[in-house]
Amino acid sequence: MGKCAVLNVVKHLDMALLCKPSCLSKISAICLAVTFIALFLYFEPQSPLCPSTSTLADEETSEGTVLTEKPIVLLWFWPLGFRFDFKICSTYFNIDSCILTDDRSMYSKAEGVIFYHKHIDWNLKNMPLDPRPTFQKWVWLNEESPRNTAKKPALENLFNLTLSYRRDADIVMRDEVTIRKEEMREDFVLPKKDKLVCWIVSNNAANTGTSTRDRYYRELSKHIKVDLFGSAYTGHRLSFEDYYPTISSCKFYLSFENSLFKDYMTEKVNGPLTAGTVPVVLGSPRENYEQFLPNGSFIHVNDFPDAKSMAEFLQQLDKDDEAYMGYFEWRKYYDVLPHLLTVAKQFIQPTCLACDHIAKYKEYNVVNDLNEWYFTPELH
Ligand SMILES: *[C@@H]1O[C@H](CO)[C@@H](O)[C@H](O)[C@H]1NC(C)=O
Ligand SMILES: *[C@@H]1O[C@H](CO)[C@@H](O)[C@H](O)[C@H]1NC(C)=O
Repeated sequence: MGKCAVLNVVKHLDMALLCKPSCLSKISAICLAVTFIALFLYFEPQSPLCPSTSTLADEETSEGTVLTEKPIVLLWFWPLGFRFDFKICSTYFNIDSCILTDDRSMYSKAEGVIFYHKHIDWNLKNMPLDPRPTFQKWVWLNEESPRNTAKKPALENLFNLTLSYRRDADIVMRDEVTIRKEEMREDFVLPKKDKLVCWIVSNNAANTGTSTRDRYYRELSKHIKVDLFGSAYTGHRLSFEDYYPTISSCKFYLSFENSLFKDYMTEKVNGPLTAGTVPVVLGSPRENYEQFLPNGSFIHVNDFPDAKSMAEFLQQLDKDDEAYMGYFEWRKYYDVLPHLLTVAKQFIQPTCLACDHIAKYKEYNVVNDLNEWYFTPELH
């Protein structure tokens, strides 16, 4: 794996996949500049160490042989109704190992079928009626924490693979939060900062579990100025174009999750890491973050007895450039893959990962106790 290896992180299963996204992150950034907004501040030209695995020429020469071996993976529901072009799996995530489709008439041929949890009827009325082929695997897709997931009893003994942010899922999503090791680099330039602490927050609905972070913010803001963006407090949305520039203009960013569960770390922490800003995290305990992120890349609220002492610490770092820059040391050794920005795009990566998993791992699986696994509170 060498230079392309993911180091500390997340994927307990997809070892074979490791080289690809890291190379890809560089190549496709170039294409993406056109397609997507704003992301790519930290990409470099393609390194010869990580040759592209999929080019137009490859596809032409492999036609016929390779293509027919690819398994079909069927996306049963479009999650939240957001459609996307399956080609993005190869153009952005460098995953081209299956044939993705939303055509339900392909059901009997599909090796994998992905079901998005929220859309599954409580009585399974909208699930396939035809018998399940013996080779077929059903994938349970859910990006939400248990706090925001409905417990549906009918889902026991139905699935073969879980697809979740949890590290103990069969397929682990959100590996944009993973940090990739590259050749050592000294080229990090701190973006210009004109704000101290920022927070973009669009969801403040207490019923989604936001009260902990809301309380912490209110206490913190008594002791330090926090610049707020997003609809929850300011009443207007921050545009996607402004997302990274806004975060990068702040020295610290509040990466406060709405619910506190083991492994539940979202784009809220990936955003500042990508943008060159120090995330101040509130979520699962520090040790859990350290499993995903380099130590010294973030500040954890639990490191302080209260919001006041954290405010003092941030103010102190504001005056001490050397100590502040210490929070970017990890950039010499690691790289971040920017997440796709919009809500509409958040299901692309999980879908691609499922495709790749189905193609690579053929063994028999059953998930007998989905609800017990998912809802047993390990951490709160
Ligand atoms: C990570 O950093 C924290 C705070 O600086 C420290 O307490 C902890 O021991 C470190 N953990 C590891 C694994 O180095
Ligand atoms: C998938 O899970 C179902 C339900 O537990 C089981 O009957 C089936 O044999 C499994 N199939 C595979 C290919 O693992």
